[in-house]
Amino acid sequence: MTTLFDALKVGRLTLRNRVVMAPMTRARADDSGRPLPIAATYYAQRASAGLIISEGIFPEPMGKGYVHTPGLADAVHVEAWKAVTAAVHVAGGEIVAQLMHAGRISHPSLLPGNATPVAPSAVRAEGTVYTDSGMLPHPVPVALTEGGIAAVIQGYAAAARRAIEAGFDGVEFHAASGYLPMQFLSSGTNLRTDRYGGSATNRVRFTVEALQAIAAAIGADRLGIKISPEMAFNDITDHDPMQTCTTLVDQIAPLGLAYLHVAPAARQSEYHHELRKRFPGTYIAGAGFDAGSAAAIVASGGADAVAFGQLFIANPDLPQRLREGTPLAAADPSTFYAGGEKGYTDYPVATAA
Ligand SMILES: Cc1cc2nc3c(=O)[nH]c(=O)nc-3n(C[C@H](O)[C@H](O)[C@H](O)COP(=O)(O)O)c2cc1C
Repeated sequence: MTTLFDALKVGRLTLRNRVVMAPMTRARADDSGRPLPIAATYYAQRASAGLIISEGIFPEPMGKGYVHTPGLADAVHVEAWKAVTAAVHVAGGEIVAQLMHAGRISHPSLLPGNATPVAPSAVRAEGTVYTDSGMLPHPVPVALTEGGIAAVIQGYAAAARRAIEAGFDGVEFHAASGYLPMQFLSSGTNLRTDRYGGSATNRVRFTVEALQAIAAAIGADRLGIKISPEMAFNDITDHDPMQTCTTLVDQIAPLGLAYLHVAPAARQSEYHHELRKRFPGTYIAGAGFDAGSAAAIVASGGADAVAFGQLFIANPDLPQRLREGTPLAAADPSTFYAGGEKGYTDYPVATAA
C-alpha cells in the first residue's frame, strides 16, 4: 500500500515523500519584488516536504497583483531568490517556483507607469484590492490583443528560465484562483470571439500555449500546473467547469508535464476521479486535506501526492508530525499577509514545542 512517506519520481525530480507544501502568498517581499532573507528561513524550515511549491511569483511587472509579492521579472529578483533556493537545498528539500500572473486582479498603483491591468476581456472583477492607499476597487481591465497574448506567454517562458537560473528545481504554472489563466479558462471572464474565446477548446488555448512555451524553455519534465475547479474566489464564474477542466486536461495530457495539481472548491472526489484518469503524469490533490484523508487518497491511488496549505504554515515539520501522529497546530489567519516574522518563521517544530 502506498503511503505519504514513500518516495516519488515527479518528472525530473525525485521527492523523498508525498507531502507537498502548497503555494501560499505571504506578502513579505520588498517593494521591488525581492524576497527578503526571512523567506529563506521560512522555506528552509519546511524543507522536509517532499516538494515545496513557492508562493505566487509575478513573471513580469504587469503580472503583479498584490503589495509585497515577489517577482522573477529581472536579474535582481533572480539574485534574491538564489538565497532562498540554496537554503532549501542545504536543508535537503526541493522547491519549484509558482508563476502567477494576476491579470485583472490588480490595480494601476501596483503596475508599471500606473498601467491598467490586462485580461482576456474588459470584464471588471467585483471587489477590492489591497494597495498602499488602502482597499481600492478593481478597475475595468484592458482586453489583451493577440499580440499581447503572445507577449505574456513569452513573459512566462522568460520567467521560467530565470527561475531555473535562480536555483529552483522547476516551475508551477498558476492556472487557479481566478488569476489570468483562469480568467481565460472561464466563460464569465472570457468573452473573446477569436481563437482564445468561445468554446472550451478555445478558452484552454492560452494555458496550453503558455505551457508549451515554458516547456520549450526549461523542459516539460520540471513543469507542473495548478487548477482550482469551481473556485469562485476573485469573482470567477464558468457555465460548465467540469467540461472546461476535462478539455484542458485532455489537451495538456500529451505535453509530458511533471505534474497536475488540482485543488477543487467543490465536488472534490468527482474532479479527482475525472481528472486523474485523464492525466498520465504525477497527480497532486490539494485543498482541505488532513492526516486521514491525505493518507486515504494516496493509499487508494486517487492521487500520487497531497498538497497542504494552512497546515504547512503552522507545522513546519508537517511530514514528521503526520508520520508520528503528533497533534497538528492551527495557522493564525491574521498573520497570513501581515509581514514580519510573526506567523511566518516562529511556528515551532513538534520536538521544540
Ligand atoms: C495564506 C494563503 C495564501 C495562498 N496563496 C496562494 C498562492 O499564491 N497560489 C496558489 O495557487 N494558492 C494559494 N493559496 C491556496 C493554497 O495553495 C491551497 O490550495 C489552499 O490553502 C487549500 O489548501 P489547505 O486546505 O491545505 O490550506 C493560498 C492559501 C493561503 C491559506
